[in-house]
Amino acid sequence: MKVRVTSADPTRTSADVLVVPVFQMRKDERRPSRLTRLDKVLGGRIAAVLDTGDFRGRSGETAVLYPEGAVAAQRVVLLGLGKEEKADADTLRKAAGTAVGATRARRGEEAAMLAPTTRRVRIPAAAQALAEGAVLAGYRFDAYKEKAKDDPPTVRQITFLYEKQADARSARRPAETGAIIAEGQNLARELSNQPGNQQPPAELARAAQRVARKAGLRCRVFGPAELKKRAMGGILAVGGGSTNPPRLVIMDHAGRKGQPTICLVGKGITFDSGGISIKPSASMDEMKHDMSGAAAVIGAMQVIAALKLPLHVVGIVAAAENLPSGTAYRPGDLVKTAAGKTVEVLNTDAEGRVVLADALHHAATEHEPEAIVDLATLTGACVIALGSWCSGLFGSDDALVERIRKAGEASAERVWPMPLWDGHRDAIKSRAGDIKNTGGREAGAATAAAFLSHFVGEVPWAHLDIAGTAWTQKAGPYQTAGATGVGVRLLVEFLQNWRKA
Ligand code: BES
Ligand code: MN
Ligand code: ZN
Repeated sequence: MKVRVTSADPTRTSADVLVVPVFQMRKDERRPSRLTRLDKVLGGRIAAVLDTGDFRGRSGETAVLYPEGAVAAQRVVLLGLGKEEKADADTLRKAAGTAVGATRARRGEEAAMLAPTTRRVRIPAAAQALAEGAVLAGYRFDAYKEKAKDDPPTVRQITFLYEKQADARSARRPAETGAIIAEGQNLARELSNQPGNQQPPAELARAAQRVARKAGLRCRVFGPAELKKRAMGGILAVGGGSTNPPRLVIMDHAGRKGQPTICLVGKGITFDSGGISIKPSASMDEMKHDMSGAAAVIGAMQVIAALKLPLHVVGIVAAAENLPSGTAYRPGDLVKTAAGKTVEVLNTDAEGRVVLADALHHAATEHEPEAIVDLATLTGACVIALGSWCSGLFGSDDALVERIRKAGEASAERVWPMPLWDGHRDAIKSRAGDIKNTGGREAGAATAAAFLSHFVGEVPWAHLDIAGTAWTQKAGPYQTAGATGVGVRLLVEFLQNWRKA
């Protein structure tokens, strides 16, 4: 979707739908001057709707007006923003998403929207959020569907209209950035939505290579031979049950000499059946998205390259398929990881941490980063603890954890700090090996994080458990059902602020 920013006259801007956002108003409240000026041209059509009380500007509320030639747009849609004192960047992200949805619902291809301005969000941050909301709302997963004749066309363009030229000028760059970020998030969604048969580990690796080639990133892929050479017994064990062998993918955004290195690591289980400790069939289909951490890393790498962030960022994806078979790893197995630590496998369904063990070790030892951030759909326990309201946040370094938390707030991809103590590490001590891959039912998300902590050495590290946030059954203003692409906005926000202490 093309995102434009102008200070053109909204009454003369041609569009299928002109969206007019309105903060919630009391009946007797004075209406914003921009609204009354537009209403004059519209012959009082807006006032008529407001006077009836049919539209008050409540969050998500809409009303359609037909200007009959009074303005250049075919339709005018009033869009409620809710109470201004509650507004934040996500209010605007949602509003732009609703604007695109309202345009599509009327089979429109070109949208225009008065850019909402509020003291509560600065113009650049607002412009970024608006562009993100619009581009995110344009995403649908339809690669495997025959086109139906009555499918609405895609919304090709949205124009954000600013009153002042200076505002439009300061909005332009951030809007471009927002569109780039949202495209990265849509890429993550597309990868996550792919079914297991269409996107085994080798295909996920190829997708990463395609992204890297287009974006100008270096990309290396380790297949089974290279994994064996590097003694990556964790990822080999998990991938061993499938005829689709595992891959480790390393994407590299070089940055300039002397710039700090940050590693992003993603869990890339292209399908998680549970393996020999097989899962119940209900909702097992959703385990095609068990590579959402990897998807977020690949999506973020595309954005990092496009924005030319002044950092050296290494994106690492541990891709494997977890299936039961005669060659699958078993409960009771002792598996030697690249770090040399042995893992006693108590449950083959706790596979994410086993593949991440080798990926994290690689990050910590080969790249000497200043920080490692991993993302993984790691535990059902995290879903129970936090639901889909936020991702679980764990880490070894309070300052890093706080940076991630703040990035989550700013990007509306919320994360919440969870405890990670020596006691959690004690819970996964193994009698037969060094550590075991489950710590029982208590604090399952924290004992999983404790497992990962064994493989990052002394590097400051944060872990995001996105099991509850990577997939959704319910659609929102900028979200269709299915993969969310969570993590891309957060990672980019985090990296953009890296230099600011
Ligand atoms: N991929 C799952 C976790 C998951 C659950 C992700 C629900 C998204 C939604 C993970 O591999 C898993 O199966 N974890 C087990 C660990 C247990 C066996 C210790 C779990 O959480 O039940
Ligand atoms: Mn599992
Ligand atoms: Zn899994």
